[in-house]
Amino acid sequence: MSAEDHAGHEQQQVAVYDRGAAIEQSDAFENPGLPPHRPRQTDLHPEKERRAERQVVGWFLVSMLGTVLAIVAYVAVPIVEGDMTSVRLSNLFLGLAIALALLGIGIGGMHWARQLMSSHEVVEERHPSRGSEKSRARAVEIFQLGDQESGFTRRSLIRNTLIGAIALVPLPAIVLFRDLAPAQDAVEAISNTMWRQGTRLALDPTGTPIRAADVTIGSAFHVIPEDLKDLDHDGGYLDQKALASVLLVRVPLDRLNEQPDRAGWSYDGIVAYSKICTHVGCPVALYEQQTHHLLCPCHQSTFDVTDHAKVIFGPAKRPLPQLPITVDDEGYLIAQSDFTEPIGPSYFERLHHIDEGHIPLSAAETENRA
Ligand code: FES
Repeated sequence: MSAEDHAGHEQQQVAVYDRGAAIEQSDAFENPGLPPHRPRQTDLHPEKERRAERQVVGWFLVSMLGTVLAIVAYVAVPIVEGDMTSVRLSNLFLGLAIALALLGIGIGGMHWARQLMSSHEVVEERHPSRGSEKSRARAVEIFQLGDQESGFTRRSLIRNTLIGAIALVPLPAIVLFRDLAPAQDAVEAISNTMWRQGTRLALDPTGTPIRAADVTIGSAFHVIPEDLKDLDHDGGYLDQKALASVLLVRVPLDRLNEQPDRAGWSYDGIVAYSKICTHVGCPVALYEQQTHHLLCPCHQSTFDVTDHAKVIFGPAKRPLPQLPITVDDEGYLIAQSDFTEPIGPSYFERLHHIDEGHIPLSAAETENRA
């Protein structure tokens, strides 16, 4: 390409972009235009129009029926705690009824649009900004035309049943939101676990009791109450396990920093702490042998085992609750009582509870609760 050709080519490029038309124009296809308008049966026969109208009304009535059935299903098929059949049945009937309610509105609306609203095709110019007064007046005119052609105002039965169906559809949600409320007092629910005075500490998941002599320095045991194995899944096994899970570690006695009011809660350097993180409840499952730190894998809260599991890093706001332990006559590790404070996340209810002063259970109280 010569220098003049090159310059000419560049001028051509500049000319193209100067016009602001950086889009390749193509005349490969001609505008096919609109197909000829074909009137529908409902446009030609008034009786078919009336039948379509009845069908639309029918679908909106079906929607109303579905909404009512959803509420009836919620009341008539209650969920019984621990009964999975009742959960399945409740979900099945609720799902079917709500699907019917939504389907009725959807099909009715589509049928209305396809069979009764105007079927004329319209070409509309789009404007990027606010239109002129004239175009706005035209918009109002078009809106009124749409209203006239759809029959929204004129076909009052369809309009009213649609409004009724839409107004009723949220009702099941309002009823179902009731289940979001806690079934019992949250603090109460996490204040009691299976630990009792004399309950043996056992390995998770085998349930084998642990002898103090088997816990060597640096080792960490995932622990459950020995009698947890007596529960089955319907008897609340998982719930109780989530509350009572404990981490057991042994640290050198000279590293253990015990407060006077907790003297005697450990046994020969063996300490037990709730495994449920006080941030938002993940299992604290990582133990650093060298530093004697427990780590929560969710948000890296770190607890110092040698100092009452106090928080030394991360978002947790309070130490892991300690389980007071000792040994029985046969050398097995046992609990002295339940935890003396609620386990798990420090939501405001619990902080309030702690601020008010949680009174540790005496051995007699623990006995009574057993
Ligand atoms: S749940 Fe443990 S740090 Fe967040």
